[in-house]
Amino acid sequence: MERRSRRLERKDPFGRHPRLNRAGAEDAAELSALLGPGKVSVDEERIRTYSRDEVPPAAMGGPHPADLLVFPESAEEVAAVARYCHDRRIPITPRGAGTGLSGGAVPARGGVLLSFERMNRILEIDEANLCAVVEPGVVTAEIDRAAAARGLAYVGDPCSGDASFIGGNVAENAGGNKVVRYGATGAQILGLETVLPNGSLVRFGGKRRKDVTGYDFARLLAGSEGTLALIVRIILRLLPRPRRSAALLCPFRTLAEAVAFVPRIAREVRVIPTSAELMDRRAVALAERYLSTRFPHPEAGAHLILELEGNHREELADRVEAVGDLCLASGALEVYVAEDRTSRDRLWRARKSVGEAIGAFYSKFAKEDLVVPTSAVPELVEAVGEAAVRWGLDSVTYGHVGDGNLHVNLLADDLPEADRRLGEARRFLYGRTLELGGTLSGEHGIGLKRRRDAGLFLSPEERALIRRVKRAFDPAGILNPGKIVEGN
Ligand code: MLT
Ligand code: ZN
Repeated sequence: MERRSRRLERKDPFGRHPRLNRAGAEDAAELSALLGPGKVSVDEERIRTYSRDEVPPAAMGGPHPADLLVFPESAEEVAAVARYCHDRRIPITPRGAGTGLSGGAVPARGGVLLSFERMNRILEIDEANLCAVVEPGVVTAEIDRAAAARGLAYVGDPCSGDASFIGGNVAENAGGNKVVRYGATGAQILGLETVLPNGSLVRFGGKRRKDVTGYDFARLLAGSEGTLALIVRIILRLLPRPRRSAALLCPFRTLAEAVAFVPRIAREVRVIPTSAELMDRRAVALAERYLSTRFPHPEAGAHLILELEGNHREELADRVEAVGDLCLASGALEVYVAEDRTSRDRLWRARKSVGEAIGAFYSKFAKEDLVVPTSAVPELVEAVGEAAVRWGLDSVTYGHVGDGNLHVNLLADDLPEADRRLGEARRFLYGRTLELGGTLSGEHGIGLKRRRDAGLFLSPEERALIRRVKRAFDPAGILNPGKIVEGN
């Protein structure tokens, strides 16, 4: 009998966790008294704007509005909100700049949406220890700018870096354009200061380069999508800033030749490029249309953008020449070298615009973030071609080919049975990705958008462990509930 009633209790008709409560006007007033004036909002329009990210709400079963917004300005205020919500079993969803691509900061079960936008200070650039100490609401690109002023670099470089917050980058373990050489956001983290869901302040790691004193919780929190702790301070490694860099634009006859070329750079030139990015023909055409610009060789099957760094003119020139020669011997129609900042910026602007361009020109598409071992990229690209033909879809493939992480977009505007085609083609691609040793998301995360598909890629044991880790940090289940795996 007892067992049965527990099962029934879990079947909440609204998909809400039975133990969680909504926040009401009384909570808004109490939180306002706790935090001071101007830090709580119940304005419906504002709530709607803050309760979404870059994923169209329709792709996640409609809008998911929070009940109220809070704007804390310090770790202590974050802790006060956590304690309040914890006592009343009200969900808290942390939010950065809303540039996410998986609904990670979308409140699945109402409650309090906690914006970090007012915790936006770069607290320290520590030259002696080669690190930066920042609050979570700092715009990512600002960290690199502050580091550059001291001859240093912050190498986390997501495409949204001019808008995204570093806290969101940590929560999603954001990748981007320099992962091939420097690793994703998680690899840049030396330490985190956090507020646990019960309101206690806990530090993980620090300004140390090494630390095996206990588990590596800082790395566990990277990519935990705000489900384990609220991150209130971040210590990031900085690196010496290379004095020179050059971007190579390499149009290749075919997409297959372009992707087959990339691993040869490390093997044959013995250099790992700072970036190795791909734009297939349709991605190039979209960027051209979106930015009213022209790429050379629009007939090329794909363009690669390769970035190389060096400290001395000759050193960089040698690398550029070696990579360029190899390119030309491997199917490149031409190699264009951009060394000045303006032409490099123009090139990167075009590359970074593709995702936005798809959103601007299409309304029915599947936006995927697949990642496979780098040696399997050619087979993944073939599978995308096969899916497009079988289901009569157009496709756009671009992204971080050097990491094996491709943004595959299947386009179905104006097609009959668009949803069926997209659904079947996605499932086919997921199957091939699994066979190739790949997985569902390389950098955009699972969040709300991919929660149902994650089960295909995570073993039952891994899903169970995810739930147990979640419970260890958040036994009350109030922090960003409903994310990553069902039942979280
Ligand atoms: C990119 O690499 O362009 C980003 O991850 C964003 C996107 O695909 O929209
Ligand atoms: Zn990307």
